[in-house]
Amino acid sequence: TFVVTDNCIKCKYTDCVAVCPVDAFFEGPNFLVIDPDICIDCALCEPECPAKAIFQDDKLPAGQEAFNELNAELSKIWPNIIEVIPPPADAKEWDGVPNKLEYLET
Ligand code: SF4
Ligand code: F3S
Repeated sequence: TFVVTDNCIKCKYTDCVAVCPVDAFFEGPNFLVIDPDICIDCALCEPECPAKAIFQDDKLPAGQEAFNELNAELSKIWPNIIEVIPPPADAKEWDGVPNKLEYLET
């Protein structure tokens, strides 16, 4: 499965949802996650993310391991998102800021 990681938090560009053939993305207040039970590993979303926040679960960068479980858990709670929406006004300022997990809103 593919996993959304730290740099999506407060960036939430949503370009990823436009290409997913199985609508595997779910939306929280300031972050998106992928449902591992829906994702078919097509890899289409990975290059679409302007924040480079999407990785295959077995190629997660060091320190991003917790996002495996977070995607699996939050995708069962949050609503499905199938259309691109405008990013937060300050998305660019947060792009690349490390360790944004403390800002994750659920
Ligand atoms: Fe959707 Fe493919 Fe990305 Fe999985 S890898 S979330 S199926 S676009
Ligand atoms: Fe997040 Fe990137 Fe999608 S910032 S919403 S994973 S395009």
